[in-house]
Amino acid sequence: MTSYSFLDVGFTYESLRAEMDAAYARVMQSGLFIGGPHLDAFEREFADYCGASHCVGVGNGLEALILPLKARGIGPGDEVIVPANTFIATWLAAAQTGATLVPVDADPHTMNIDIDAALGAITSRTRAVMPVHLYGQPVPMARLTEAARARGILVLEDAAQAHGGTFAGRRAGSLGDAAGFSFYPGKNLGAFGDGGAVVTDDAELAAAVRMLSNYGSHIKYHHEEIGTNSRLDPLQAAFLSVKLRHLEAWTRQRRAIAGVYLSRLSGIDGLTMPGIAPDTDPVWHLFVVRHERRDDLQKALVARGVPAALHYPVPNHHSGAFRAGYGHLSFPVTEAICRTCLSLPIGPHLTLAEAEEIAGIVADCVSDL
Ligand SMILES: Cc1ncc(COP(=O)(O)O)c(C=O)c1O
Repeated sequence: MTSYSFLDVGFTYESLRAEMDAAYARVMQSGLFIGGPHLDAFEREFADYCGASHCVGVGNGLEALILPLKARGIGPGDEVIVPANTFIATWLAAAQTGATLVPVDADPHTMNIDIDAALGAITSRTRAVMPVHLYGQPVPMARLTEAARARGILVLEDAAQAHGGTFAGRRAGSLGDAAGFSFYPGKNLGAFGDGGAVVTDDAELAAAVRMLSNYGSHIKYHHEEIGTNSRLDPLQAAFLSVKLRHLEAWTRQRRAIAGVYLSRLSGIDGLTMPGIAPDTDPVWHLFVVRHERRDDLQKALVARGVPAALHYPVPNHHSGAFRAGYGHLSFPVTEAICRTCLSLPIGPHLTLAEAEEIAGIVADCVSDL
């Protein structure tokens, strides 16, 4: 039996070994292991790639979301609108500031934040809204951004899963006031360890994030704020610069695999395909289908060598971290997604022939349920 892998983070090293080894040697020989030209270069390249003016490398994707909120002074008494259906980091980031989370349910078609629900959740205390481009599906955020800007509300994209995804021809990272990216190894653009970045057009916000991420200091030993230590190290930055040059090719492969799944699996009774919002071009970090007998389907797929996975099975408001404050709320669309979602393997490590085979196995398994 053929066995497929869900994710192969070693694939990028193997396929780019000479470039990666050269990048490693350059950083080692530079003798600079915090900051320096390799970090500066990646920050410039990634800002350009996103179509934004500034990029600040930080320690991970969670901190790339916390820092812009803190830089804007968001804290206790403020409200932050978040999607109910997201990885828990979005909620953790807002919660770490001491603000009150205002979760809103998902759009059943795209599984992303329901824009009308988000607009309806704005109050006089709202200080930020965090649209998440979940699974690599960009949020069509024009109305949300317009409403937020009119009220001085920060629009912070959670772009951890969406490097290169576009809405209305613009890339994630240039759609709101600021964006937090993750370079966790399994992400579309992943480091060989933790990493993250804040991308923005706002020079003041970028400077404030940089200061907070560096002990609250612009000038050595002059500490203006209670900051933290959250930096992208130059070794990871040098690896990311190499990978960034290949990201578009990898994204094309993800899109081609998604095309195979969509054409082979759409219309199968009981199996719901991920919906794509108008004017968006997803980057397919995950390919999430839904089925009422999800657990049985997952078992059948795993038995046939297809490692289908769950993103995410527990709604954030039912998690131990948030149950006390938000467990009484009800988000029926999100709860249904968590109960029925199943992620099929996708990524540049898979060939189109393998995607065809996987699609055939999925179709068989659904009809045998
Ligand atoms: C939607 C989302 N937001 C934020 C994060 C946090 O990123 P990191 O794991 O780099 O802290 C992740 C990734 O894990 C994510 O998927």
